Amino acid sequence: MMNKEKIRADFPMIQSEFEKGRIYFDSAATSFKPKCVIDKVVEYYTKESANIHRGDYDLSYQVSSEYETVRKLCAKFLNAKSENEIVFTSGASSSLNLVAYGYGQKFLKADDIILSTEAEHASNILPWFKVSEVTGARIEYIPLDKEGIFDLEAYKKVLSDLGNKIKVVTLAHVSNVLGNIVPIKEVTRLAHEVGAVVVCDGAQSVPHIKVDVQDLDVDFLCFSSHKMLGPSGVGVLYGKYELLDVMDPFMLGGGSNARFDICGNILLKNPPFKFEAGTPCVEGVLGFGEALKYLMDIGMENVEEEGRELHKYFLEEMLKLDNVIVYNPKSETSIVTFNVKDIFAQDVACYLNSQGIAVRSGNHCAKILLNVIGASETIRASLYLYNTKEEVDRAIEVIKGVTLEKCIGASI
Ligand SMILES: Cc1ncc(COP(=O)(O)O)c(C=O)c1O
Repeated sequence: MMNKEKIRADFPMIQSEFEKGRIYFDSAATSFKPKCVIDKVVEYYTKESANIHRGDYDLSYQVSSEYETVRKLCAKFLNAKSENEIVFTSGASSSLNLVAYGYGQKFLKADDIILSTEAEHASNILPWFKVSEVTGARIEYIPLDKEGIFDLEAYKKVLSDLGNKIKVVTLAHVSNVLGNIVPIKEVTRLAHEVGAVVVCDGAQSVPHIKVDVQDLDVDFLCFSSHKMLGPSGVGVLYGKYELLDVMDPFMLGGGSNARFDICGNILLKNPPFKFEAGTPCVEGVLGFGEALKYLMDIGMENVEEEGRELHKYFLEEMLKLDNVIVYNPKSETSIVTFNVKDIFAQDVACYLNSQGIAVRSGNHCAKILLNVIGASETIRASLYLYNTKEEVDRAIEVIKGVTLEKCIGASI
């Protein structure tokens, strides 16, 4: 059991005068940060401001060592074989683009198949559109069920129809709209049988459920620090070392090369450094390290259990309301996606805001999925470990009372 009061006390945003009494249900977009994360970022700027891997003085050695300690911690968090499998990027989008460019554009060729789903976030499908355009590889979609949920049987059928033409299977572990968990371990096992590599978009899974990359056996995993209590501007690409080793970097520059000469010969460093050209977001990585420690202290099993409990409660209460349509009654993580009947999603979101409840409305960057579930816009409420059942109760009371008149009043 979590000590909710203690957790809430750790988050300055929850304690802030402006936010006091408000309800933040938009953690799938970005999470609040605990004080230890904020303190670390401030500490870097007040006591540790130096570049990493570049200075021949104590402060630079110290910051470099702290930075590399976060890499080790992240490897431990994911149960990666080595910290050399952890590449720091600027976020999930940049990690996904790096794989698409560095692996997809390098190794795919005409008539190869990239297998994905219609539920993907733009950041995990647009980079593959580009791979397709550049290489001639084709994108095929695993049919989802009518609620937009990943269907293992449909996947097996696609694998047996297309077989070893499939070179990449790329999909989200948890949908950012529907919150369902894709059975990624089984997906990966089957993909490997046809010789495909698996790119897992973990932006919505890594913050909420225990992810063990050796157990899942995924080839690549991409996620962002800012959705898991860490600073923005930092992301992770986990990749199996032998794949990172043969991949091309997306950027070239300082820090990523061992040597270059006037003839244009470049000798790149080994992974992960060959992917980290330029000065990184040092303070962000240090803050991310604190976020990892914070989550590890609580235990990801507990984070997951708390998320499920809170979500189950919220979902059950939502399903009792007769003025709403819930699009993801089977979701397992902290996302509830809904509409109030006959009212435009954004008008409802504006009204909820007027009542102190922060949610997101629209297509949530998964523009193809909304055709599948039959709604052009939805409202997404996404919770995290600092939310409470009392907040859910208050939100339910407000949602229950939403009317067109109130929404029009709120948007004037
Ligand atoms: C499933 C999924 N993938 C990728 C991303 C992109 O993450 P970022 O904006 O941090 O790069 C998001 C962000 O919402 C997401 O939900």
